[in-house]
Amino acid sequence: MVPLGILRYKKENPLACRVLFYVLVFSSCVTLAATAWQLYINFKKDLDYIEKRISQIKEGYGQGLSLGVWDLDTKQIHTLLGGIIELPDIQYLEIRDTADEIVAFLGTPKEQKVMIRAYPLDFIDSQGIPHHLGKFAITASLVSVYQRLNETVFQILISQTIKTFLVSGFILLVIRHFITRHLSAIAQYMSQEKLGYLETPIQLSRTFESNKDELELVVCAINRMRKGLIQYISERDLTEEKLNNTRNYIDGIINSMPSILVGVCSKGRVTQWNDGAQTLTGVSKREALGRSVYTLLANSDMPMESIKSAIIGQQFLKKTNISLSKEGQVVFYDIAIYPLSFSDQRGAVIRMDNVTERVKIEEIMIHNEKMHSVGMLAAGVAHEINNPTNSVINLAQIIMNDNTKESQEYDIARRITKEGERIARIVSSLLSFSRNAREEKKSARVQDILVEALALTEAQICKEGTKLVYDIPNRLPLIRANAQQIQQVFLNIINNSQFALNKKYPGFHPDKILEIQCREHLIHGKQFLRIVIKDHGTGIAQNILAKVNSPFFTTKPPGIGTGLGLSISCGIIESHRGFFNIESHENNYTRVTIDLPYDPNNPKRSS
Ligand SMILES: Nc1ncnc2c1ncn2[C@@H]1O[C@H](COP(=O)(O)OP(=O)(O)OP(=O)(O)O)[C@@H](O)[C@H]1O
Ligand SMILES: [Mg+2]
Repeated sequence: MVPLGILRYKKENPLACRVLFYVLVFSSCVTLAATAWQLYINFKKDLDYIEKRISQIKEGYGQGLSLGVWDLDTKQIHTLLGGIIELPDIQYLEIRDTADEIVAFLGTPKEQKVMIRAYPLDFIDSQGIPHHLGKFAITASLVSVYQRLNETVFQILISQTIKTFLVSGFILLVIRHFITRHLSAIAQYMSQEKLGYLETPIQLSRTFESNKDELELVVCAINRMRKGLIQYISERDLTEEKLNNTRNYIDGIINSMPSILVGVCSKGRVTQWNDGAQTLTGVSKREALGRSVYTLLANSDMPMESIKSAIIGQQFLKKTNISLSKEGQVVFYDIAIYPLSFSDQRGAVIRMDNVTERVKIEEIMIHNEKMHSVGMLAAGVAHEINNPTNSVINLAQIIMNDNTKESQEYDIARRITKEGERIARIVSSLLSFSRNAREEKKSARVQDILVEALALTEAQICKEGTKLVYDIPNRLPLIRANAQQIQQVFLNIINNSQFALNKKYPGFHPDKILEIQCREHLIHGKQFLRIVIKDHGTGIAQNILAKVNSPFFTTKPPGIGTGLGLSISCGIIESHRGFFNIESHENNYTRVTIDLPYDPNNPKRSS
């Protein structure tokens, strides 16, 4: 079991522990090698010593033993062998003759851990003739040599192990004190999450601070890097701020433009989305970025295929007067696509301009042009009819003068005069209608304008079975108006009412009623003339009531209504500083209220 403290220490000081491990392994190997070498030297020395002793025995006793064997003097031989056996490490002695028969021996023979040396026994007789007598074998015991070897091994291993552990522990402490604790401090300093730490330079708690060693060099390098980083960060912050300002400025420019501006990449993904685009689609910039422009601008009236091919083909495209319905209203846009290439990327800028006002003005001009032509035609016709009508009235007058009131001729002539006068009134209305629309505002009687408008429409109204109910007092204050324009307003409203009544009641019906009323009215203490035109026709559904004043809004079949009548009427009344209001209840009634201010120069009542 490894104690927990050691494990923790190992975890906290992995580098020092690894160094310690390698030092231990290396020093153990060195210790083992050195020990082995030492043992080998000692062993060899001991063997040499025994070898030397044996050869000394041979030198010292060889002659005496040869003589003893020559003389067959057993006593002398045993005396000599007894002297030799007493010598240290000598275990066994043996003399054999030439026939290898044992002549004499002493000691106990052993086969293990022994050194055996055999020497020839030679004798030279008195005539100088050499004789070979046999051999003398000396067996020396190596037990003591091995014992010494074991003791030495044990001593060396113990001492070397203790030394190795002490040295390694010391190395561990030194590494920890001089290196690894500083490395930990550096790592801790560098791994702080907030960059604020860069403000304080790194400092190590070292005893010898002046030492310009590797650690000091690392600290200096980190502090230099720290200063570089601080400068880099402040420069980067500055650049980022400038970039943000520039981006905000460009965004501001793009957003302050009334146009809808959308930047897309070649795949049609949105890269720029200004406020105009947000207002048109209701999709915020954050939601739009990265999404397909074809989905975002999807609208049945959008020329999506042309837009797509212009973006993909990098071609300029311009489409004018594209009508889109926005919240139930028709809005016209000019769409332009400009190819865009930057760096190695391609894309396009889509610009959409709301041109509803321009289209409205164009339509109004066309409308006015039509009215002018109708007016010219009416003037021509009126002029041609005027003279014969006067003649008819004059001739009828003559017949009336020539006959008594009770006569049938008188009655017929009276009726001819009455119808003739009606024709004259219509003709005079047609003539006033044909007058220039830009005629200046003058004091005018609303009653007259209404009567002229009715003169133009009454016959048709009655023919279609509508009951006209009017309440128009003869004495009313004058207004200051362009009579022709106000007449156009009344005609528009009456036409709308007549259309709604005919739709609800195609034939005759007691409720097919058109009411026209004229009254004085006070608004915030200011005097106005209030004209109310109310019909009991189809009425207007609540969900479209707010849109009927918008240009081009119509529920009439194509080719019948332009949707301009009420918007022009509203514009005319506002240009007269008046108020225009429509109330309606579907399937019940529609009431148009017009308030026109009195003529400030001539407020007296007209009769
Ligand atoms: N009296 C009314 N009763 C029912 N609906 C009406 C009435 N007046 C106006 N509207 C509705 O308002 C719409 C707009 O009227 P406006 O006069 O502007 O255009 P229009 O009548 O459709 O076209 P134009 O005036 O060119 O004939 C009409 O299409 C109709 O739906
Ligand atoms: Mg109309």
